Parts: sequence; structure tokens; C-alpha cells
Amino acid sequence: GDIRPFASPLLVPPTMPRTRRSGAKGGPVDHYDISVRQFAQQMLPKEHPATTVWGYGPADGGVGRRLHHAPSMTIEAAHGVPVRIRWVNDLVDDQGRALPHLLPVDPTLHWANPDLRPGPGPDGVPRTDVRPDFSGLTYVPPGEPVDPDTQYSTYQGPVPMVVHLHGAMGMGDESDGYPEAWYLPDAWDLGEHAEHGTWYEFFARRSLQRYGEMWRRGEQVAHYPNDNRDSTLWFHDHTLGITRLNVYAGPAGFYLLRGGPHGEDEVTDARTGRRAVLPANAPVSARGRGRVPTYELPLAIQDRSFNADGSLFYPDTRAFFDGYEGPYVPDSPIHPVWNPEFFGNTLIVNGRTWPFHEVEQRRYRLRLLNGCGSRFLILDLSGIPGVRAHQIGNDGGFLPAPHDLAQDGLRLLMAPAERADVILDLTDVPVGEHVITNLGPDEPYGGGEPGVDFDPADPTTTGRVMQLRVVPATGRDRTTPAEHLQLPGLPADGTAVRTRKLALLEHMHAVDDHEVEEGEAPAAALLGVMRPHEGKGLEAHPLTWADPVTENPDVGDTEEWEIYNLTADAHPVHVHETPFQVLERREITVEEAEYVTDVGGPLPVPPGDRGLKDTVISYPGTMTRIRMTFRNPGQFVWHCHVLEHEDNEMMRPYRVGPEQK
Ligand code: C2O
Ligand code: CU
Repeated sequence: GDIRPFASPLLVPPTMPRTRRSGAKGGPVDHYDISVRQFAQQMLPKEHPATTVWGYGPADGGVGRRLHHAPSMTIEAAHGVPVRIRWVNDLVDDQGRALPHLLPVDPTLHWANPDLRPGPGPDGVPRTDVRPDFSGLTYVPPGEPVDPDTQYSTYQGPVPMVVHLHGAMGMGDESDGYPEAWYLPDAWDLGEHAEHGTWYEFFARRSLQRYGEMWRRGEQVAHYPNDNRDSTLWFHDHTLGITRLNVYAGPAGFYLLRGGPHGEDEVTDARTGRRAVLPANAPVSARGRGRVPTYELPLAIQDRSFNADGSLFYPDTRAFFDGYEGPYVPDSPIHPVWNPEFFGNTLIVNGRTWPFHEVEQRRYRLRLLNGCGSRFLILDLSGIPGVRAHQIGNDGGFLPAPHDLAQDGLRLLMAPAERADVILDLTDVPVGEHVITNLGPDEPYGGGEPGVDFDPADPTTTGRVMQLRVVPATGRDRTTPAEHLQLPGLPADGTAVRTRKLALLEHMHAVDDHEVEEGEAPAAALLGVMRPHEGKGLEAHPLTWADPVTENPDVGDTEEWEIYNLTADAHPVHVHETPFQVLERREITVEEAEYVTDVGGPLPVPPGDRGLKDTVISYPGTMTRIRMTFRNPGQFVWHCHVLEHEDNEMMRPYRVGPEQK
């Protein structure tokens, strides 16, 4: 309501400083030391209080130097130059005491609970079956006194974290940010809390074997080979069962990987055959005082709600979503705090609500990220007179050809975690103020057209994204018009050796004394497998995080995955470690929410889904077929990127090659 739009300038994240570049035998390696800290940031316009958030920044940057930001500075990586990052959990106060979470942690999910000290699993393989047990205890809302013998409330202890580089490929699993490889800050007052999760030591040992490197307390060390394709990556927290909260609190950032085969250097001007000129930033050395021309803008779009004191609001009761207030039966799938989705009532871009940005009448390159937890965005440029826009890339790098967004009414659909590389051409846009709007819904997205199949976002709040203040160009625009860009081809793909049939499901309340009511939300979102069923085609079998691995390709295998969505909503499905191609979608007939009785003909792949992806929208009542090659041994995950779903069982481990010990 009273948050002024277009009141704060857009913050363009500067480049993350590296600690050093080492010249090992195999060539140079870029080193970073990056910590996550708690600090105050002016997310709201300046007449409002600052917001306490978490963000990544240079670990040695000094608290006073304000180098930590949410989202963080951008990591610039070059193809073929590995990056090694020491990620430090520095969520401690001035006295070195562990800070509690900013947001309400539901302890009843299967999550990274530092109150459990499970010990090693059988045969030296880490356990994944460690769940908190609340049997016999009654839930008490946060803020009320708790008798620990009979009651429990939200978790108040130190915060587990682990970092995932989304879109990274070719790295060992010790570097992937496995959800159970979390660790607490190196605080002196950890008390009885386990310092780290069940997989942490396992991966730390592997790191020692591979890189001769010990992990210190409160940190993980990750090696990214950067041998995948030129693309827009992003890093964010991935801790089991609290990713939605950790990411909402701020820690995320862009990681731009440039060059190499099928990358930026191979983009040509179709008219001349010579290398094309893409809108770029002034080199870092040229940025001094005064105005810096910055023509390539990473834009992380997220939704947030705020309390009157400026703090982040995130619901602390399940009643927020559907009014459901119990029973919170021990061992039931009903969680007292977790909500199936959350939609904030403001949009922030690069950490500020509805910013404005001064832009020239020329071409810009936008690196767009939907960094929301649950919200699908439909960006809409059609209100800007004279604007042209082409999508040239997505999650996995360049598209096979530029896609003129005019063909889609100047709209761009983005699910959580998807990225879009867009040439925004403002050459013919009149000088003045123009707004990028959002037509996605303020609720779960199920596909379809805004205004026809669902109500678009509130035009006075989440229906707007940011303002462009267009001024005349300061010089000649030498960049290649997007329609003349000849984009690089794709790396060769293998032939599938097998096809897996996988399921997206929802789990309603399974408590004896609770009848599911019409319109009531599920208790959990799940992944599973589809199995043949006599008489009824395919039957969905739900699996949880703790169930044994079912997807276990051999190293080098190419597979097709058919993802059957038996729920009512669209889910962004993300596979770690390997990019995939979207081959097709088909309509399916679902009976009794668990049987697929018919599969229709193939639907065309939309232009933005061509090329390579790491996150794909699985629509309700649809089978989505993807193909990928698993080149790297290890234990990884695939999951829904609606963070509320991912945190409540819509994530599964998968393994490439044999089990390792
Ligand atoms: Cu963006 Cu598995 O995560
Ligand atoms: Cu989902």
C-alpha cells in the first residue's frame, strides 16, 4: 500500500572481487572467499526502515565495508578457467555467537536439523533417513513459552547453510551443495548442536582426496571447472527443508560464465559473418567516478513482504494459507508452520522494491532471473511504445536463434529459477518514464492466459516490476540488432539408452480424523515414479527424500525422462549437474489423481525452451520429455524449484554410477 514505487535507483551488482588467481599446473584458477552475513539493507524506499537480511560478499571484506548485499555481487567466470570458492557460513553476531534464523523454521519437515546427532550410516554411506520425531509433543506458536517435555515450537538455534551453484556442471558432487551437506557457523556457543549434516564429512573427505584440501569448520570449498556452456548461472542456499527461508532472507547472486565453444565469442552478425557486438559493460578499469555506462544488466526479480518495522515478513503459521489450524498430529504429514506456497506483496529487483533505472535510447542486454520462491512471472513490455525485445538465451546458454518476443505479445513467462537473456531495444522508445509490468498470478500458476485463465497480479503492487527512465543515447549504438544475431549451435547430444517415467504429485492430509475439504491445500508436494498398472495405464508411486535412490544412470549414459504432472499446478523441475533438452510435451489424462490413462500427441516446444535448459516448466495434466547425458559420477538431486515444495519432499536424490564410500 504505502510503499512508493519507482522511488529507489536500481542497484547493478558490481563484480565480485576474487581473492587471487593461481597458476597451477593445469592453468589458472580463480579463487574466492565468500561469506554469508547478516546486515541491514535499504530494500524499501528511504523513508522506511532498513531491512535485516543475509547476503554473500567477500569474506575478508570487513563488516563496515558494506560489500555484502542481497543479491550479492556478480561472479564473472571465464570458460575453461576453474573457480574455487570457499563458502563461509558467517551468521554470527559481533561477539561470535550464532545468530538465530530471521524467519520461522518449521521443525516438523524433513530438514537440516542441528538438534539431531545421528552418527554415521551403515557401510560408511551417509544416512538420509534422519527425521525429527515430534511424537507425543504439542505444537506451540512462536513467542509463547514452551515446555520441552511436552511441547515444541519453531526452531531457534544456529542456522545451517550450504551453497549450490545453479546451472553448474561437470563438478564433483562434493562441490554441488548437497542439501544434507550443510554446516553451522564456526560460533563458540553451538552447544549441543551438531556442527554439520550427515553428508558433510563424506564430501569433506572427498574434497581432501581430490584437491588435498581440508574444509575448516563453518565452511565448504567448491571447485567449479567452468567447462560448460556460456550461460547465466546463479548461486543460492540449498539446505534441506529450509531453502525457502534461507533464500528469502537474501543469499543469492549471479554467476556469469562467458566464452568457450557455443558461447559469446561465436555469436556473429548474419549480415557480415563477423563477430557480433552485444551490449556490454565498460571494463572494470574504466569505471571511475561519474556515470558508468552499463548496457548489460543482471536483474534478479523476487517477491517479498515487509512488516511495518522494515523486517521481512514470512508466514509463521499454516493458517496463513488456508485458515487450517490443526490438528498438528505427530508423525502426520501436517506441518504447523510450512505453507504450500508463499506470494509476497511487493516485487524487488536486485534487492530493492520497484526500482527505477535511467536507460538510453539504445540496446541493452538483460540477464533476467526469476528468483521468487513460488511465483511465476509473466513480464510484459507491451506498455512501452516502440520497444523491441528478443530472447537470445535461457538457462543453458544461447537459444538456437533469437526469438522475437513480439510474437508472444512482448510477454515473457519465467518460472522460479529460470533465466532469460534478452536484447531490449529502446532505440525507438520515446524519452520519458516507462514501466515493465508483470501479468503472472498472485497465486500458483497452472498455465494459460492472464485475464482469461487466471487473474493477473495486482497492477498496483506485484503487477509492476521496475521503471525505465529513457534518455537520449550518449553515443552511437554499435551493437548488432538482435534480429541479425546468428547464435552458436548446441553441443552434440547422445542417444538415450533408457527412458524413465517420473511423477509430480501432491499429498493431502492423511490423518484419520481429518477429512480433506474442497479447495484445501496439500500437506506436501512429492516426486515419484510411474509404474505400469493393469487396466489403467500408469500408476504414480510417491517417494520421499529419504527413500532409496531410484534414478541411477551409469556414467556417460544419455537418458530421457518423462515427467508426468498429476497435480493441479505447474512446477519448475530442475535437474542438477547436467543440462537437458526439452524434447516435447504431451497432454495426459489423469484419473483419481494417480493414474495416467491416456497420452496425447506431441505439442510444439516453445522457442524459449529450445537450446539447453536446467529448469523446465511441467504443466498440470502434461507429460514433459527431457533428454540429458550424465557425465559425472556422484550423488546429486532433482527437484521442483517452487522452494516451498522443494522443502517439503518435492526433491529426490539421484546418483550417477555406483554408490561411493
Ligand atoms: Cu536453484 Cu537445486 O537449485
Ligand atoms: Cu512444485
